[in-house]
Amino acid sequence: MKRRAAVVERNVSPIAGVVARGLLAGHKSLPPFLFYDEEGSRLFEEITKLPEYYPTRVERSILVEYADEIVAAAAAGTAFPLHVVELGAGTATKSEIVLRAVVRRQGRCVFAPVDVSESAIAEATVRLAASLPAVSVRPLVMHHAEALPHIRAIGPRRLVLFIGSSIGNFEDGEATELLAGVRASLAPGGALLLGTDLRKDPAILVPAYDDAEGVTAAFNKNVLARINRELGGEFDLDRFAHVALWNEEQSRIEMHLESLCDHRVRIDALGVGIRFRQGERIHTESSIKYDERHVDALLGAAGFIRERTFTDPERLFAVHLARVPAR
Ligand code: AVJ
Repeated sequence: MKRRAAVVERNVSPIAGVVARGLLAGHKSLPPFLFYDEEGSRLFEEITKLPEYYPTRVERSILVEYADEIVAAAAAGTAFPLHVVELGAGTATKSEIVLRAVVRRQGRCVFAPVDVSESAIAEATVRLAASLPAVSVRPLVMHHAEALPHIRAIGPRRLVLFIGSSIGNFEDGEATELLAGVRASLAPGGALLLGTDLRKDPAILVPAYDDAEGVTAAFNKNVLARINRELGGEFDLDRFAHVALWNEEQSRIEMHLESLCDHRVRIDALGVGIRFRQGERIHTESSIKYDERHVDALLGAAGFIRERTFTDPERLFAVHLARVPAR
């Protein structure tokens, strides 16, 4: 039995399983981590510079304003130096603001960036080695959950960064589970810096995910292009439309790819043809927008206490410092 499974899986792309599960389901979906191959990571960097996409810019301004305060609060109550882990680090440009504050305070530190994008992590590692030699970088190319056991090894006092509102991609149950895993990897006194996008007028939210230049549309469609590249898919990107909508009930922006006609798409590595009806959608991402109560519920359920919240004057985005309570 075991041996047969091993033969079937040999030489199959690591994304084959999730793609097959997502596209063969009654309601088609693809998990957002699939966006971030090399091309997708490049497109995401472009998104962060768009005038409509405020989250990156605003979170950066919050970090610039409060990094020293954040680091002082995170390091309070211990003589141990602080070491930093980041989940979903990408190219770690915002984390660098926090790392500079850590270096100002204590001279040096270890930084362990975790990300599924090998190209983004490589860029971060090379850049930080040159610009911040006092930081020793230990890159971890893997999913968040796989990285948690490595976190304990980086030093006695740890600050975990989970910024960029990446948590917004997870439904509450999954988010709690992930945060509880982070909590379990920290000792009492350990800290989490959590970035969350905030609820606001859909007239601001929707354009942030449907920009005039079409960069977000290209980012969304790249998941189909990736399936073409890696799994021998035959998606015609012109037969799908980028859809971004506000779901008030779930307090989230959703991205979908909507089929413009009835058609069938062959995916060679899966040995299947996938049928699409006109108007049928593939749900590719949810991006939850939070208020303070929602954040407290998630942190509380995971065993953290929210200690401080830092925000911008327009209250577009928030960065929370949470703590593992002493037992
Ligand atoms: C990286 C998950 C925070 O939800 O805003 C940007 C991804 N998707 N534009 C977000 C994204 C479309 C982004 N996160």
